[in-house]
Amino acid sequence: MRILHVVGARPNFMKAAPIIREMDHHSNDFQQLLLHTGQHYAPKMSQVFFDELDLPQPDVNLEVGSGSHAWQTAQIMMRFEPVLLDYKPDWVVVYGDVNSTLACTLVSSKLDFQVAHVEAGLRSFDRSMPEEINRLLTDQIAGLLFTPSEEADSNLEREGIKLNKVHLVGNVMIDTLIHLLPKAHLNWFKLANRFPYERYILVTLHRPSNVDHPATLAEIMSALESISSEVPVIFPIHPRTKERINEFSLQPKNPQLLLSDPLGYLDFLALQVHAALVVTDSGGIQEETTYLGIPCLTARTTTERPVTIKLGTNQLVESTTEALLNAMQTKLRAPKDPHSLPPLWDGHTAARVVKVFQQG
Ligand code: UD1
Repeated sequence: MRILHVVGARPNFMKAAPIIREMDHHSNDFQQLLLHTGQHYAPKMSQVFFDELDLPQPDVNLEVGSGSHAWQTAQIMMRFEPVLLDYKPDWVVVYGDVNSTLACTLVSSKLDFQVAHVEAGLRSFDRSMPEEINRLLTDQIAGLLFTPSEEADSNLEREGIKLNKVHLVGNVMIDTLIHLLPKAHLNWFKLANRFPYERYILVTLHRPSNVDHPATLAEIMSALESISSEVPVIFPIHPRTKERINEFSLQPKNPQLLLSDPLGYLDFLALQVHAALVVTDSGGIQEETTYLGIPCLTARTTTERPVTIKLGTNQLVESTTEALLNAMQTKLRAPKDPHSLPPLWDGHTAARVVKVFQQG
């Protein structure tokens, strides 16, 4: 069976890695092509993940780079089409909810190639998020939908998607986490020299709704400045956020609010394991903290991963100085919440995905 995997942005890499590895273990059944759209291209947003996740180098890189949504999506579509026609896969496998996911799904379906979507069925019900549009449309088109939770299955059923296309396989990102946790532990000693704190808050923020508006970003930075005089804050910074902080002149004044370059997978995982609290607007980090049992505040009004609130350690918080500061102070003082692992977050999701392909 010929498989064409599409990755493009940072959160795709940890989802594709276990599936590519598992298919490699069954190399009689699968011939694989790995295509990188180049949506993320900075070494710290891309190459470091290929190195640390043991991902093979992409066979094809479309090198699209950054641009408006329309420009980026259109560029990916135009550059993907000839590769698809040349390789003629039995399945195009797309991951997550980034622009690369939707762009390659659209091209494939118009040329009558079958699409399988890994991490299908997540819904924030907030259509102002570009990712929500990418998820809704990809799921309508895909012929095979691999879901991480029962909620995701219900979302798809409600949208009229036939359940015989849907396979509840669990959370593939947790496969990567379990696989690399021992290596991340080894990185901790190196990191402890760089960030010599007993107790710290780890922050990541990059959603347009948080970082693109000067007033909102100013509120967030003010909350982080305040809390950093109590507990140091480590803030590995996404290029989009860095640009905005510079543009709006919001550089931190307190040296305990530490902005660093984006980190690789192992360093970031090690920092999560030892954090007193994580503040984020990422999707995947809500899941990783739930798995690790680390308190997490998500600076958003909705989440497409409600299981992280129901069973895990996650809590939504408004992106205002007051709400963030209150929530951070409360979480830092509270004993750790009891939490449990969502079903099928067991490290065997990729094996279940591969079995579905093998069973035809
Ligand atoms: C994208 C995904 C988002 C995901 C995030 C993870 C979409 C719609 N969004 O958002 O779901 O959570 O990736 O990081 O697909 N940039 C660089 N170097 C890079 C990549 C980006 O400097 O390697 C800068 C550019 O200024 C670019 C900006 O970051 O304009 C945004 O990049 P883009 O890929 O458009 O969206 P993200 O915000 O990264």
